Amino acid sequence: PRSIYLSRHGESQYNVEGKLGGDSLLSPRGMEYARALPALIKKNVGDAQLTVWTSTLKRTIQTAELLEYTKLTWKSLDELDAGVCDGMTYEEIEQAYPDDFANRDEDKFNYRYRGGESYRDVVVRLEPVIMELERQDNILIIGHQAILRCLYAYFHHLSQDDLPYISIPLHTVIKLTPKAYGCDEERYALPI
Ligand code: F6P
Repeated sequence: PRSIYLSRHGESQYNVEGKLGGDSLLSPRGMEYARALPALIKKNVGDAQLTVWTSTLKRTIQTAELLEYTKLTWKSLDELDAGVCDGMTYEEIEQAYPDDFANRDEDKFNYRYRGGESYRDVVVRLEPVIMELERQDNILIIGHQAILRCLYAYFHHLSQDDLPYISIPLHTVIKLTPKAYGCDEERYALPI
């Protein structure tokens, strides 16, 4: 059976600073994850065929750099666009846009950042990615928190209310193996 492997990019400089969005490079810890990832994947995939999909953002491409498989970058896999809040911390957003901050808490799936996107928008833009995923063999997606929540919710049939709160930790590979009904799941966390 084929599997879909999901991983966030390694810790980025913005992750360290608590900033949303951007296009920063990996932190030293994130680079350590990128160095450890090929062995974990090799151990799991063996000699089977695998294709690696990344977003167009540097932190996913950098995380995939040492993986010796065919790679494809998808603009549709870029992180949820936080619009005017891109590059800010949650504290800064709460200060600058208190009403928005409260509204997001109220309905996180539908809240759309000013000049940016909602989770609902992301689900729509991921439709072609999901269509292609359904046709493919083993795929490893090196992605972003919000994006991977949407893909994970799709394969596990989770509700829109739960989707924006799914835990997708850093430095962890989630292996999904679709079955007739639902999906088997394994998680491999690297102690980095
Ligand atoms: O903080 C990392 C990050 O990927 C941001 O770029 C993004 O805005 C955020 O996570 C999404 O998580 P949440 O929807 O919980 O704010």
